[in-house]
Amino acid sequence: MEIVPLSGALGAEIHGADIRRAEDLPEIQNAFARHSVIVIRGQDISPDEHLAFARTWGAINVNRFFQALDSHPEIAIVLKEPDQRRATGEDWHTDHAYDLEPAMGSILHAIEVPPYGGDTVYCSMGAAYDALSDRFKELLQGLYAWHSSSHVFGVAAQDSEAMKMGKYRNAESATQNALHPVVISHPLSGRKGLFVNPQFTTQIDGLAKPESDAILGMLYSHCSKPDFQCRVRWQKGDVTMWDNRATWHKAINDYQGHRRYMHRVTVEGCPLQAAQ
Ligand code: SIN
Repeated sequence: MEIVPLSGALGAEIHGADIRRAEDLPEIQNAFARHSVIVIRGQDISPDEHLAFARTWGAINVNRFFQALDSHPEIAIVLKEPDQRRATGEDWHTDHAYDLEPAMGSILHAIEVPPYGGDTVYCSMGAAYDALSDRFKELLQGLYAWHSSSHVFGVAAQDSEAMKMGKYRNAESATQNALHPVVISHPLSGRKGLFVNPQFTTQIDGLAKPESDAILGMLYSHCSKPDFQCRVRWQKGDVTMWDNRATWHKAINDYQGHRRYMHRVTVEGCPLQAAQ
């Protein structure tokens, strides 16, 4: 097995592994702990094998908003048809940040990729936090922020293309908000990292909206620096897994007129603790 880093900040691609082989799992797990995003190339797997791999990490967290495979309700469909303008996940976000216990990881399997483009870009929230000044880190210490699903998956978003094309479901249940620390201690590594994102974070608790917008806006522009990023160029059969407690991601929507079809499984997480 060969493990090649994608950038200095995060991400690695893995060649010569088979996610169905138990003996390959320890090395894959080590690579994930080290790089937060792993791209396991060339996996010719069935939906059952995708789920079996996901279960080696923990219980499956079934996404309640994405359309799912009829045969496997635990597998969410991430699809852009040639005539659709918007892609799922094209704004920077962290999957399931709106849940009380955000999913620990997401595992995406490339079934059909466009002839060019359709990459996914990732950002290391630990590297972004490390690069802040000590005084700014002090300012963030002890802050909590609200996260919501309602403006993306709820009734308020009924006019979006995704809703009109039937990509999402259960709009009426997208009502919950979750409060998480702005700076978390990673549940496994203990590394400090930012846990706010442009798509699902709505406001820093206890601040006036303009104050919250100013701090979040500054953090978003800071985190968007290429220095903290890596980019995954998909090939059919790739399985990419990312750590939602350590990263943001964004699907690049630059392949208009082509089809991109992925299967996604999310793995249960835990409540997030504020960094001390
Ligand atoms: C997602 O946001 O989970 C999907 C990312 C992608 O399609 O690249």
